[in-house]
Amino acid sequence: MRNLIRSLLVTLLLVGPIAAITLPGTSAQDLEVRSVNDGVYSEKQAKRGKRVQRRACFRCHIDDFYKGSLIDSWAGNTLGALMTHIANTMPQDRPSSLKPRQYADFMAYLLQLNGFPAGAEDLPSDDSALAKIRIERSKK
Ligand code: HEC
Repeated sequence: MRNLIRSLLVTLLLVGPIAAITLPGTSAQDLEVRSVNDGVYSEKQAKRGKRVQRRACFRCHIDDFYKGSLIDSWAGNTLGALMTHIANTMPQDRPSSLKPRQYADFMAYLLQLNGFPAGAEDLPSDDSALAKIRIERSKK
């Protein structure tokens, strides 16, 4: 019994520090969380997104539909979660029918409509990158 306790203690002493270092959530990459206030889309992309909205969504939603309460109800969540939700459900008569790039362009337009600043680079369309961008309450 004493041997067992001793080997458990030794294991804890050896593994403890390693576990502390490699715990999920502590790597530098994970700390790179940005928010929609950080200029995460480009003006050009928002223009393309406006065309997506005109072509694929406008017959059911005017631009005002996307302002305010929609974004506010997603505050604290990630852009990845919102884009996945929109892509899985919209256009209502043909869900998931646009390319990921087009959904990302629409998201850029959605951010612009809600008063979030543009930046130098396009919003990416892959989920893992979008999962690191936090949604804040709208400015309009
Ligand atoms: C055929 C009609 C139709 C088309 C086309 C359509 N939608 Fe919708 N959409 C709806 C309806 C109906 C709802 C639910 C209505 C509501 O919230 O009043 C909705 C809801 C939404 C919501 C709110 C979702 C939620 O769960 O809160 C978003 C965002 C949205 N649509 C985005 C889009 C986008 C982006 C497009 C184009 C790519 C699009 N829709 C195209 C009919 C449509």
